[in-house]
Amino acid sequence: MAEPLGDWKRTHTCGALRPADLDASVVLLGWIHRVRDFGGVLFLDLRDRAGISQVVVRDDGALMAIAKRLRPEFVVGIAGVVERRTEETINPKLATGEVEVLARSIRLLNEAKTPPFPISGDSLVSEDVRLKYRYLDLRRPRLQQNLGLRHRVAFAVRQYFNDNGFWEIETPILTKSTPEGARDYLVPSRVHRGEFYALPQSPQIFKQILMIGGMDRYFQITRCFRDEDLRADRQPEFTQIDVEISFASMDLVFGLIEPLLVRIFKEIDRDVVTPFRRMPYAEAIARYGSDKPDLRCGLEIQDVSDAFRASQFRVFTKILTEGGVIRGIVVPGGNQYTRSQIDVLGDVAKEMGFAGLIWARPGEPPISSVKALTEGELRKAFELAGAGADDLLLIAGGPAEATSTLLGQLRLHIAKKEELLQSDNFQFLWVTDFPLLEWSSDDQRWFSMHHPFTAPLDEDIAKLDTDPGAVRAKAYDLVLNGSEIGGGSIRIHDAALQARMFRLLGISDEEAKLRFGFFLEALEYGTPPHGGIALGLDRVVALLSGESSIREVIAFPKTAAAVDIMADAPSSVDLKQLRELHIRIVE
Ligand code: AMO
Repeated sequence: MAEPLGDWKRTHTCGALRPADLDASVVLLGWIHRVRDFGGVLFLDLRDRAGISQVVVRDDGALMAIAKRLRPEFVVGIAGVVERRTEETINPKLATGEVEVLARSIRLLNEAKTPPFPISGDSLVSEDVRLKYRYLDLRRPRLQQNLGLRHRVAFAVRQYFNDNGFWEIETPILTKSTPEGARDYLVPSRVHRGEFYALPQSPQIFKQILMIGGMDRYFQITRCFRDEDLRADRQPEFTQIDVEISFASMDLVFGLIEPLLVRIFKEIDRDVVTPFRRMPYAEAIARYGSDKPDLRCGLEIQDVSDAFRASQFRVFTKILTEGGVIRGIVVPGGNQYTRSQIDVLGDVAKEMGFAGLIWARPGEPPISSVKALTEGELRKAFELAGAGADDLLLIAGGPAEATSTLLGQLRLHIAKKEELLQSDNFQFLWVTDFPLLEWSSDDQRWFSMHHPFTAPLDEDIAKLDTDPGAVRAKAYDLVLNGSEIGGGSIRIHDAALQARMFRLLGISDEEAKLRFGFFLEALEYGTPPHGGIALGLDRVVALLSGESSIREVIAFPKTAAAVDIMADAPSSVDLKQLRELHIRIVE
């Protein structure tokens, strides 16, 4: 039975009451969190977004009769008086723990079915069940805290940009494909038979056109849509803090984004030190085997090629004469590892795709898993790698980038195993000087590493025709603890260079005109130099709240199979709707 709210008005939230409120008459509205019935006395924990208040019913008449019907998740209004709790019942863990409300009147606003999982406590519930009953999951403290933090971050972002002369401008959701490297979500047009809108993978082209339109400084907290394989840090629709700035240099962009992160981290009371470290892409790959290095642990990749140039170990000398490298990582204290621990590492490495992983222990004499490596070679390798007596050196050889990439994965495996990656240790890094282009041997053509609007470094433009793979871009990623939280670039503002770029990407002039003609034309009407960045809001909030999946900071996320279990989307539609859209399903 559901009673109407009537003229009841909340006087306090369930998290507000303190000893200063003693004797006040209050009205609380919320959900029954827990009921403890001691016969003559009954305690209710009443919960809302702000917290929990204890309500006591000490009545043997009608009031007690109502109270005895209450079950967890019933919705009630309580009118009563604030009292001090007895000494034994004070709960120091609750902000409201020194007081309770003596109930005078209870209004049962709604009943609830028994929830499929308890809202109180932090019991483990399968994610599918949590997502199906997301409205119940949202009542639990974890999501309440995460979404509260997300709101505060978004609010701080808006305030920050407003203070710095940015305007928030909306860009279309029903639009044309923007190339960000994923598949588009398409929306069929009813009015224009056989034609489709694309949902934006990002507002990239529009924000650049806003610069051409003289908007000077733009930001938007906006949804982007990408049909790509999902992971813990990827959703088919996600939110960007999207930014574009006229007359921008890379330093100007960094100088505006770093203080934004300082401001955002204030929401979790953390001081962020600026300026952030910077590292060129090539260095990140060589030293960390990744374009998003996690700087929370050392475990840097070391080049030990020079120790083995004259080695009798043919595998190494062959690699070296073919232009490859011998590299390794030093595991601090790893000399303590037992043989079986090292064997496990070897198995892990094999699974990662290592052709072979060699270990070497310092000592008198030093030993390694390959007999052919001499004491002298090993000593030289320890010296080059900076390995001390307590350490273990893991060595692999092959082509430079592939070897570093594999060692980079092994590095993260060891760092996790040794618990070197603390979630509250925040290490920011700008990765710069990305290659402009990547060669796809499948498609036999160049692809943009970021997107086709990224400007090449001025000094590399001459190489665009002769050695495109060596051209570096004015592109940058912002990395936090091994997660790419943002990416951007200084853009091409010269129409001729932009057209040349499309040609380089194997997009014919005709196709470029068809897909981006409006943009190429706009570039010809006085485009200011400009640049920008987009930060992944979901990823930022996940890192702030110590969550390993962005699903924990999104109210209604989709599963790894891109399904909304609660709303049951995607789902089939009726034939009439399809006919109107001129669409036929082909089995
Ligand atoms: P980019 O593609 O790097 O750049 O995207 C910017 C940031 O958005 C986040 N992100 C995602 N988050 C969750 N789920 C996803 N599927 C997902 N994809 C990306 C990441 C990423 O760093 N237009 C350019 C920006 C620019 O050049 O200004 C762009 O979209 O944190």
